[in-house]
Amino acid sequence: MLDADTGIWDAIVLGAGAAGMMCAATAGQRGKRVLLVDHADAVGKKILISGGGRCNFTNIHTAADRYLSANPHFAKSALGRYTAQDFIGLVDRYGIAWHEKTLGQLFCDGSAKQIVAMLEEECVKGGVTLALGQPIADVDHGEGLYRVTIGGTVHRAPALVLATGGPSIPKMGATGFAYDVARHFGLSIVQPRPALVPFTLGPEEALFQSLAGVSADVEVRWNKTRFREAALFTHRGLSGPAMLQISSYWQHRTPIQVGFLPDKAADWLLAEKRERPRATLRRVVAQALTERLADTLLERIGVQGEMGNLSDKALRQVAARLGDWAFAPSGTEGYAKAEVTVGGIATAGLSSRTMEAAKAPGLYAIGEAVDVTGWLGGYNFQWAWASGVAAGQAL
Ligand code: FDA
Repeated sequence: MLDADTGIWDAIVLGAGAAGMMCAATAGQRGKRVLLVDHADAVGKKILISGGGRCNFTNIHTAADRYLSANPHFAKSALGRYTAQDFIGLVDRYGIAWHEKTLGQLFCDGSAKQIVAMLEEECVKGGVTLALGQPIADVDHGEGLYRVTIGGTVHRAPALVLATGGPSIPKMGATGFAYDVARHFGLSIVQPRPALVPFTLGPEEALFQSLAGVSADVEVRWNKTRFREAALFTHRGLSGPAMLQISSYWQHRTPIQVGFLPDKAADWLLAEKRERPRATLRRVVAQALTERLADTLLERIGVQGEMGNLSDKALRQVAARLGDWAFAPSGTEGYAKAEVTVGGIATAGLSSRTMEAAKAPGLYAIGEAVDVTGWLGGYNFQWAWASGVAAGQAL
């Protein structure tokens, strides 16, 4: 009799995204009968839009210290056993061409569709059965089996995998469903919040709205965390890789420090003064930064004039302000614009080797649903692949 008729499986995986597909394919290829469930009508929707349509599928510098988690050591085991090189090997076996863009970030030369097609093929190889396009009505446990009700049918399995991600980008069907199910089975949740998300600036920083579209190479700092990447001014505030990165660490009502011109020495304006005393400060800073940005920053600082007429002390102060500019974000653009969610199912209740819940044998949590969140740049997919494989090999 077919599995679909009996509704009995070896494992039911909830969520056909990056982690869920990887887990289902891995388990299926080990001979497990797997049902992969998603309320969306197609698999891997976030993969398709990722990396601007080219999917930044991994990062060759993957290491646990590039992830945020209440337990910074948790991700080590899975990341160590399924590495960026392992995923590159899979991509290569499918003949998918790729390139390194910057900072170890690997993208498809062609399209993210190739990664989804590859994962679908891996699921086919594992004989995975898909149940798409229907809401999950109920999840429960009884008589040693997990029970998942979809479209009036009750499916049962000794193993249930939570791979429905986090609530980032609800418009794409993202939900906090994994948290609800996890709580139902006694697991705890680390307070989730939007991450890799643009900042908003309040009315007192309205001056910067005129800079919408201007970008600059900066060093951004929050507490002891710092990133050297591009920042982008927007109509609502601050974006670009540097800002997205620091947003994952930022806490409300605290400032972020932005170093414009991070390569300049502390006394660079004094050197400029000696070299071209007749040049205006505005001209010197504009040449280093772009005119619009220089104008706005110098207007705020309130110093102008010819270099030769400005005191060394004043120039040192200007250089210091440019090198350590405090922005006080009013907030972020929230889950609607967040690439990922920080927080989630607490790692304290999970095995770092298998992703299985200690309190609920047979229950696994993987991917973004778990309190492991990577930096920008392919780290989040690598966690999805690695945690998916860890569970797929164990269940
Ligand atoms: P994912 O979100 O992929 O999958 C969850 C699945 O569960 C979805 O298919 C969803 O439909 C389903 N689901 C949710 N709720 C459900 C419910 N109640 N019932 C049934 N099904 C449900 N990362 C990276 O490393 N490189 C990149 O280039 C990018 N780019 C990027 C761009 C954008 C715009 C976003 C929003 C995100 C990224 N990311 C990224 C992050 C990356 O997409 C993310 O970390 C992974 O997709 C997480 O994989 P998961 O499988 O855990 O969740």
